[in-house]
Amino acid sequence: MSIAIKKAQRIKELPPYLFAEIDRRKREALSRGVDLIDLGIGDPDIPTPSAVVEKLLEGASKPVNHRYPSSAGMGEFRQAVSNWYQNRFNVKLDPAKEVVSLIGSKEGIGNMAVAFVDPGDVVLVSSPCYPVYHIGTAFNGGKNYFLPLKKENHFLPDLDSIPADVAKQAKLLWINYPNNPTAAVADEDFYLRVIDFANKFNVIVCHDAAYTEMGYDGYRPMSFLEVDGAREVGIEFHSLSKTFNMTGWRIGMAVGNSDTPEYSRRCKKPA
Ligand SMILES: Cc1ncc(COP(=O)(O)O)c(C=O)c1O
Repeated sequence: MSIAIKKAQRIKELPPYLFAEIDRRKREALSRGVDLIDLGIGDPDIPTPSAVVEKLLEGASKPVNHRYPSSAGMGEFRQAVSNWYQNRFNVKLDPAKEVVSLIGSKEGIGNMAVAFVDPGDVVLVSSPCYPVYHIGTAFNGGKNYFLPLKKENHFLPDLDSIPADVAKQAKLLWINYPNNPTAAVADEDFYLRVIDFANKFNVIVCHDAAYTEMGYDGYRPMSFLEVDGAREVGIEFHSLSKTFNMTGWRIGMAVGNSDTPEYSRRCKKPA
């Protein structure tokens, strides 16, 4: 840039974006002729199913699709999400009130902090994790409290290790199972402990469910919303990116409780 303009403070304080850094190192290694197996960004290298591509081609020629949808997303898409949750997880969602479409789940994940984190608020984030959780906090002046994912805890965060004064200041708790990058999975028992914690400390649980369709040998990962009490404390983010090899299409959704008074109550931390 030839003109001297200072970057915003929040940009200066950001840690390097992990995936950009991995990409830089990858390109550098490739240029040295190294034969790489890419374990970086979760970007399926097999094509989108042809039925999806055919629907896109058909849809692209219809003028009804050439205009903005409503801000909450196209009704047909939200209905399809609700049907899928019902069939896949036996979770009932009102498509008009409990589903919003996203330009990839990353859009919703990043904006969660915009909606709920004020300067100084604490966000509970696993380490390691998909970096957008803690970057969202940093962009909004919040403080990340990292919960190490350890082998001895089956790569689940140890909620009992969080000091009470930190938990009391926390607004959001990010969880992600099946987990990127550890591939660990969570069961109902873990989710029940998460719900107890959320109720005790008035914390919103944000479950990133992007990988629920990556289950093998007959194992079917759960939605957080399947668990009793989850809807009262949490929101779930999901995506077509990994399930249908559609990372270049960027279509995602946020689902859960539309009861904003409940969420507002959670945002008012007890003094
Ligand atoms: C754990 C996790 N959540 C969310 C995303 C974002 O996916 P989307 O393409 O829906 O924005 C990714 C992408 O790598 C991811 O690994």
